[in-house]
Amino acid sequence: MRSVFGSFAAWGPGDGDATVQTAPSARTLSIPCENHPFRWAGSDSPTLSIKGTGNTLIVATSQQKKSQMGEATITMKAIVVTDRAAGTAGMTLVERPAPQAAINDVIVQVHASGFVGTELAWPSTWTDRLDRDRTPSIPGHELAGVVTALGYGTTGLSVGQRVFGLTDWHRDGTLAEYVAVEARNLAPLPGGVDFTVGASLPISGLTAWQGLFEHGRPQAGQSVLVHGAAGAVGSMATQLAREAGAYVSCGSEH
Ligand SMILES: NC(=O)c1ccc[n+]([C@@H]2O[C@H](COP(=O)([O-])OP(=O)(O)OC[C@H]3O[C@@H](n4cnc5c(N)ncnc54)[C@H](OP(=O)(O)O)[C@@H]3O)[C@@H](O)[C@H]2O)c1
Repeated sequence: MRSVFGSFAAWGPGDGDATVQTAPSARTLSIPCENHPFRWAGSDSPTLSIKGTGNTLIVATSQQKKSQMGEATITMKAIVVTDRAAGTAGMTLVERPAPQAAINDVIVQVHASGFVGTELAWPSTWTDRLDRDRTPSIPGHELAGVVTALGYGTTGLSVGQRVFGLTDWHRDGTLAEYVAVEARNLAPLPGGVDFTVGASLPISGLTAWQGLFEHGRPQAGQSVLVHGAAGAVGSMATQLAREAGAYVSCGSEH
């Protein structure tokens, strides 16, 4: 299937996940979508059909929201923001086109997502790297979930793998059913770690790691003072410093 329908490969389930029924005389493929990585809004069992007419492929689904010749739009639920002044009150649940994996990306089905309120003040939530408006944008940049598709050239991760990590500040984020993220920004999530725990770790954990090991460079036996040790960053720094063999002293407001 991948070799024949290259443009479909990024959307498809893992090799062998779906039963492909062929009808050569009609030059039509019908693919049951129960195992498709994207969830479907309706209760009936959707089918994705690829029909050949001459040199043209027509891709259609039984629950297609919008159709053009040669193009199907597969949707997902996502939270978007469009109004910078509205704050969190402007966060709206909508249907959005599901993301496709670019080179070196994976698509992750999001099981848990981390959102930081201050994201709505970050310029990257509203504009791309050329400072162009990119709304409606999907906030949330921490995630834990399962890989459902690989982009061209992606290595190091596989379909079905549990992962956690960070998404690019300037790309659509994780308050959505699916997200496209560079594989290098993800790490395998051990089977014994809940998705919610995994999604809570990346930003505060990496902040603590950076402060502690890239700037502080503690040696075993040294003393480390962690301010705000009961907070998100402080609790990570405390555990990491202890793990590195430091003597840890903690401070907090109360
Ligand atoms: N969370 C992140 O991923 C992240 C990323 C980058 C940068 N930061 C920055 O890192 C800092 C901590 O963030 P956080 O997310 O860990 O915040 P947090 O979860 O709200 O924790 C803040 C901690 O600071 C303590 N604290 C507050 N006022 C204090 C005072 N006057 N003296 C001593 N301790 C005080 C609090 O003590 P109590 O527990 O007693 O209230 C609490 O333990 C912030 O400046 C934040 O902007 C955070």
